[in-house]
Amino acid sequence: MDHGTDNHAARTRIEHEQLTIAPEFVTDAIRVLTSHESIRSFDSTPLAADVLEAILISARSAPTSSNLQAYSIIVVEDAQRRARLAHFVGDQKFVAQAPVMLIFCADVSRLHYVATRQSHPFAAATLEMFLTASIDASLALQNALVAAESLGLGAVPIGSVRNEPQLIAEELGLPNGVFAVAGLSLGYPAEGARRGTKPRLPSEAIVHVEQYSSEHLEQQVQAYDATMIANGLYAGRQVAGVEPHIPDAEYGWAEHTARRTSRPETLTGPAAALREHLKDSVEARGFTIR
Ligand SMILES: Cc1cc2nc3c(=O)[nH]c(=O)nc-3n(C[C@H](O)[C@H](O)[C@H](O)COP(=O)(O)O)c2cc1C
Repeated sequence: MDHGTDNHAARTRIEHEQLTIAPEFVTDAIRVLTSHESIRSFDSTPLAADVLEAILISARSAPTSSNLQAYSIIVVEDAQRRARLAHFVGDQKFVAQAPVMLIFCADVSRLHYVATRQSHPFAAATLEMFLTASIDASLALQNALVAAESLGLGAVPIGSVRNEPQLIAEELGLPNGVFAVAGLSLGYPAEGARRGTKPRLPSEAIVHVEQYSSEHLEQQVQAYDATMIANGLYAGRQVAGVEPHIPDAEYGWAEHTARRTSRPETLTGPAAALREHLKDSVEARGFTIR
């Protein structure tokens, strides 16, 4: 199968939103970024070693707070381990199907080692450090995703690695001070897996000029809801177990999002009531939330 960089041929969000940006400013990088869509169905083609290396060096090139590099990446290719991980993340089958899963971890264990090596106390297992390390890990994930997409691969982040922090830590042999923030499943998209970029909220709802404004929020939500109801992206994916206030035909982003945020269990998906105990889990992994 030809796995050329077909991403470049995909319609970008610039085209979907009918933005007029002078062509000389729509670089290859911007075409890749604005063509992003999460892919959840993969064929069995493995990643060549150079492809994986190109993705990993891109990840490691992300900016990192104070150059602390407070993150680690676990590369999982073993099929049995991927199958176990797929189970731990709420039986998301595509995690087993994708030939590679990268797990991006907040990591202060290396910093702890360096402090001890240099005969200094280590006092950085704080909330600020956890946030810093999580941002580092997230930026590395996003760089890996963009690099992969530029090579014609598909990818999907997997936040559900936080469903079972302890099981994930044991499976990956994570030492104290290392917490799995998110995974990234990678592979070549199966036939028909690409459906096009998912519409986003209107720019004005997200991008504020000089100062925050929610003046037109209602119109913005209405416009986006109409788009999402019309394209049926939430059809058959209603959040269950919530008293319905509206007919199915009016179920769109607003109702889906409101139901997701109405209870801790619905926010994180069916398998993730566990994340209610995230603070304990993070502290059990060696970070202090203070
Ligand atoms: C931090 C993070 C965690 C995510 N976790 C999951 C996940 O566990 N399972 C999944 O199917 N998608 C996951 N996603 C993908 C989002 O659902 C997706 O990005 C969103 O619906 C927008 O769609 P798009 O990426 O196709 O534009 C995650 C995305 C992010 C940024």
